[in-house]
This record gives sequence, structure tokens and C-alpha cells, in this order.
Amino acid sequence: MTVSPAMEPTTGPAASAGVASEPTARKASPRRFLMCPPEHFAVTYAINPWMDPEAGADRDRAAAQWEALRETYLELGHRVELIEPVEGLPDMVFAANGALVVDGRVYGARFRHAERAAEGPAYAAWFRDNGFTEVLEAEHVNEGEGDFLVLDELILAGTGFRTEVAAHQEAQEFLGRPVVTLRLVDPRFYHLDTALFPLDGRNVAYYPGAFSPGSRAVLERLFPDALIADEDDAAVLGLNAVCDGRHVVINAEAQRLIAQLRRHGYEPVPVDLSELRKAGGGPKCCTLEIRV
Ligand code: ARG
Repeated sequence: MTVSPAMEPTTGPAASAGVASEPTARKASPRRFLMCPPEHFAVTYAINPWMDPEAGADRDRAAAQWEALRETYLELGHRVELIEPVEGLPDMVFAANGALVVDGRVYGARFRHAERAAEGPAYAAWFRDNGFTEVLEAEHVNEGEGDFLVLDELILAGTGFRTEVAAHQEAQEFLGRPVVTLRLVDPRFYHLDTALFPLDGRNVAYYPGAFSPGSRAVLERLFPDALIADEDDAAVLGLNAVCDGRHVVINAEAQRLIAQLRRHGYEPVPVDLSELRKAGGGPKCCTLEIRV
């Protein structure tokens, strides 16, 4: 699915308005991702407002959508590694939650809910088996890159629903990077990566309504040039996107955000993850970045 041409201002005053100061060519940098095939994906419990066990989800459809996401990354030149899915862990497909990896150091996840608890050790084991020697078993509740997003000079960290502030401090101490706490207030946006994504190492896109007033003020101060998404785009998990500096792999339904990204020189790559959204996940949730 692509945005209709009518939504892409390529000529006329609309095209130049507000983009004059933007660089024309965005640069992609190749990434290394870890993903988990949705072999055991299902919606059998509800730990966020998106999940309805009565309605369930179609695993084959989810698998096809997930495979298309994996192929999209490969086509963009990224490297994708796979972790073996574990039976009985239907949310393990959401690899972002498995850890936070910076400078080759692995800060392990400790899940809030019992249903997902076994995922933490499973992801930590993958890193140990794949040559990572600095793997920290966290003392405090944290859901990996679901609530930690890495920029050049700092790490943004969500709290309010899943990850504890104590984990922000634990991660800062372990990784030696400044961690900035942001408070989430809308249960639909229970992980930071459902409300904000990095565009590059210095700028972000986000939905202000997901954050407390104080955290909104912090974001405005840190990112005066941020792209601001509206509620409709947030409500289709449009902020759960993956940007390599140029391409933005994003839920196709987030039409206004997609048009806005285009206007700012990014290249949106729309994907359909509607079946995984029934568990509250999107492209970013399925993707753990390995930074060595
Ligand atoms: N059902 C999962 C949960 O509620 C979805 C996780 C989505 N992952 C993410 N990085 N936001 O924990």
C-alpha cells in the first residue's frame, strides 16, 4: 500500500513551505536487527488495551505480514538475524522487548507480566550464544527497546506502564549513556516505542498526547524540530516505526505521518502489520536493533 499521489506535495507552494531548512538528501545507515518468527503468535491474554483474547488473531496472516517486514529490511540492505521462537510465548515475536543493546553491551529485559517473563532469559541466552560477553541480567523491570530508544548522545526511556524508573538508572550505569525519563500516560501507548521513534541520532517523531505535561516539555526542549504526529496516526501505531536515517518502515495506515515524513525528505516504506497490531505491536515491536 502506498500513499496516494495527491498526498505528496511535489510542486507548488505547499511543497516548499516549511521544508526550506531541511537537508535534501537523508542518509541511510545499515542496521543489524534481531527478529523472532511468529510461529507461536496468538492473542490468548490481555496485557494492553489492544489485546482481545476473545477475538484472537490469525497466525498465518501474522506470519505473512512478519515475513514481508523481514524482506523489507533485507531489501533496504539491513542484516536480520533470527531467534528461535519458544512455544507458550505468544508475544515473543515482539523482539524489541527482549533487550537493549548498545556498544555491544546487552541490558537484559525483565518483563512486567508473568505471561512474558520467560522471554527475558531466552533473549539473553541468544546474545550469550552469539558471542556477546557483556550481558546484564537486570534487577529492575524493563521491557528492552520497547521502552528504551537510543539517540547519538542520549537514551530516551519510557515509564508509567511497564519499565520502572529504577531500570532507567540501572541502564544508564551499565551502558554509560545519559538516560532521560519520559512518562507515558495513555494506556494505548504503553511502551515508549508506541509513541515516539528516532528519525536519526538527533531528532525524533512523536505523539504528544501519549506523554505527561512535564515529559512533553522535555521533548519540546530536546527536539524543537521534531515531527509531531496526530492521534489518528498514533492510534494505528504509526509511531511504532523504524527509521535508518532515510527509510521509514511504518504502518501503512498512518497516512498523515507518512505524508509529513515525505515532506521532510524521508522515504516512507509502508508495511501492513494489522494482524500483529491485535497484540499491540507494529514494525518496531518486531525489531530489536543490535548496536555493536
Ligand atoms: N502484547 C505485547 C505486550 O503487551 C506487545 C508488545 C509490543 N512491543 C513493543 N515494543 N511495543 O507486551
